[in-house]
Amino acid sequence: MGPRSLKSHDTAALCHVISSRLPTTTMATDGSVWRFFLLGFLNVLCVYGVFEGDTYRRQVTMELNPGLNMSVTPPTGVNLLHVRARGQNDTLHFLFCSQGAPALLLVHTNTSSSSVMVDWSRFLSANVSGSLKVEPEGSVQHSSALVFSKLWEYDDVNNTADPAKLPPSSFFPPYELQNFTWENLNTTINQMAHTAELCGGDGSRWFLNGSFCLGFSAFESEGRDGILPHLLHNANSSQLKFRLRGVKERSNFSRFSLELQYVGRRDLPSRVETLRSIDDEYTPSIFQVSQWVSSPANTTSPILGYVQWKPVAYRNNTAALADATPCRHSALLPMDKLPASNLVLAYFGDGHKATGLNMTFSISGDPFYNTTHYLSWTVLVGLGLPPTESFSPLVIAIMAIGLGIPLLLILLGGIGVCLRKQRSTPLGYAPIN
Ligand SMILES: *[C@@H]1O[C@H](CO)[C@@H](O)[C@H](O)[C@H]1NC(C)=O
Ligand SMILES: *[C@@H]1O[C@H](CO)[C@@H](O)[C@H](O)[C@H]1NC(C)=O
Ligand SMILES: *[C@@H]1O[C@H](CO)[C@@H](O)[C@H](O)[C@H]1NC(C)=O
Ligand SMILES: *[C@@H]1O[C@H](CO)[C@@H](O)[C@H](O)[C@H]1NC(C)=O
Ligand SMILES: *[C@@H]1O[C@H](CO)[C@@H](O)[C@H](O)[C@H]1NC(C)=O
Ligand SMILES: *[C@@H]1O[C@H](CO)[C@@H](O)[C@H](O)[C@H]1NC(C)=O
Ligand SMILES: *[C@@H]1O[C@H](CO)[C@@H](O)[C@H](O)[C@H]1NC(C)=O
Ligand SMILES: *[C@@H]1O[C@H](CO)[C@@H](O)[C@H](O)[C@H]1NC(C)=O
Ligand SMILES: *[C@@H]1O[C@H](CO)[C@@H](O)[C@H](O)[C@H]1NC(C)=O
Ligand SMILES: *[C@@H]1O[C@H](CO)[C@@H](O)[C@H](O)[C@H]1NC(C)=O
Ligand SMILES: *[C@@H]1O[C@H](CO)[C@@H](O)[C@H](O)[C@H]1NC(C)=O
Ligand SMILES: *[C@@H]1O[C@H](CO)[C@@H](O)[C@H](O)[C@H]1NC(C)=O
Repeated sequence: MGPRSLKSHDTAALCHVISSRLPTTTMATDGSVWRFFLLGFLNVLCVYGVFEGDTYRRQVTMELNPGLNMSVTPPTGVNLLHVRARGQNDTLHFLFCSQGAPALLLVHTNTSSSSVMVDWSRFLSANVSGSLKVEPEGSVQHSSALVFSKLWEYDDVNNTADPAKLPPSSFFPPYELQNFTWENLNTTINQMAHTAELCGGDGSRWFLNGSFCLGFSAFESEGRDGILPHLLHNANSSQLKFRLRGVKERSNFSRFSLELQYVGRRDLPSRVETLRSIDDEYTPSIFQVSQWVSSPANTTSPILGYVQWKPVAYRNNTAALADATPCRHSALLPMDKLPASNLVLAYFGDGHKATGLNMTFSISGDPFYNTTHYLSWTVLVGLGLPPTESFSPLVIAIMAIGLGIPLLLILLGGIGVCLRKQRSTPLGYAPIN
């Protein structure tokens, strides 16, 4: 039995089914008019939260370097952010760390009193295996991690924006994120907003004025991000925003792609699904949402963990519609070993595996990186069913006006005709004298 926090998504899924049926229903056949309006009405209920789609709340607290003895001077650049999102009967632990390749680890326990234990002397040593635990170990229901392993830069002279079709000679040596030096997270932590930002570079001349940043956000409850692409989130998710700013390009035709790895149980296959999204109000012109999910192979059982994104990146920090550029993901590639992230190596042992993909920004014909020297892309990392879009109140209002008024006229017309008929009927059968 899963905790209630995850079940609360069932109603969200119901609402999604309702809203996905709605556009395909036509008014052409008999009776479907009523079905259409019934579904529309149910959808209105969904939008206004009558089904209490997602009201689950968690209490979120943040702590840097848990259990590190502060009387001992911590080594510079040690950043292990622990975010505890406590529910009524369960806890989600988010661990965000810059030792090795930057990684976000998510651990779900079925008790509200689980805790993270770090054996710091081993965690900072060369053999980190087993130095980070979530206790009591028996309470752990699910764990997975997202790792940012490499940043690839390629010389797109023919403007194809398709790394799969390019010869290996088009690729510059990748930036290994495990070798970056990172700024201290402590100056960027915002306890009220539950955010922090990790920025770093490799110290080379290309990064002299530039940085690679990952902005982390945790959430107490359902909501929507304030800036484009306005991703929807809930209490079981967290968000990472990747930004590449001011990095000097190594060619005039440079484009970038980002290599990600997802670590999970060996017996839980992962796959990427791309779904249609009905949202146009919050992320204009992007009618898709992609999600990298892991779930048991041969069952229709629920998704256990996911990484979700809209296939769009932005070329300016104002993140305006005009600066949007599409992004694409490569096919999944099984990795032969776990990524070089201390967090992953410290927590996961045998029985876990990594799968990788490359996220490619821009399409053929789009401006090259040199035009703005800026790139941002946002992902949601969470547990349970990924959030799904439903019709917004604005769309509902437009539909209600667009369809309601004609229906009202038809109804009034019908009533009018009936009344007139009723009045005229006695005349029709009036005995003829
Ligand atoms: C939490 O657990 C208690 C006792 O086990 C149970 O009565 C309660 O309904 C649970 N609450 C939720 C939200 O699942
Ligand atoms: C922290 O370190 C100091 C000095 O090394 C030691 O006296 C103290 O007991 C340590 N505290 C903990 C909680 O380990
Ligand atoms: C790493 O540490 C673990 C636990 O202390 C030990 O079992 C293992 O043999 C060590 N591995 C290496 C390569 O030293
Ligand atoms: C938590 O899960 C473990 C196994 O997954 C189970 O043995 C235990 O009873 C569960 N605890 C609660 C409070 O549900
Ligand atoms: C670019 O296009 C030219 C002509 O089609 C071709 O000869 C060349 O190999 C291409 N270069 C790359 C890097 O794809
Ligand atoms: C990155 O660091 C690893 C060891 O930490 C080293 O083996 C490797 O050569 C480095 N890669 C680059 C590109 O510097
Ligand atoms: C952040 O940590 C560094 C060293 O780890 C320390 O010198 C600095 O004062 C800390 N800053 C804040 C705002 O806590
Ligand atoms: C770094 O940026 C400053 C101003 O933003 C500029 O004056 C300087 O030339 C840049 N340096 C490099 C190496 O690009
Ligand atoms: C999936 O099916 C295979 C054989 O069909 C079976 O051996 C395996 O236990 C099943 N796995 C799950 C999680 O049901
Ligand atoms: C990402 O792209 C690079 C360059 O084409 C390739 O070497 C690497 O294997 C790719 N990684 C994944 C996970 O597909
Ligand atoms: C970017 O590079 C292209 C190709 O060399 C060039 O035509 C363009 O002027 C450059 N843009 C800027 C802003 O430097
Ligand atoms: C980003 O957009 C703003 C406003 O449109 C513009 O002033 C600025 O120059 C743009 N920045 C870049 C790097 O193109």
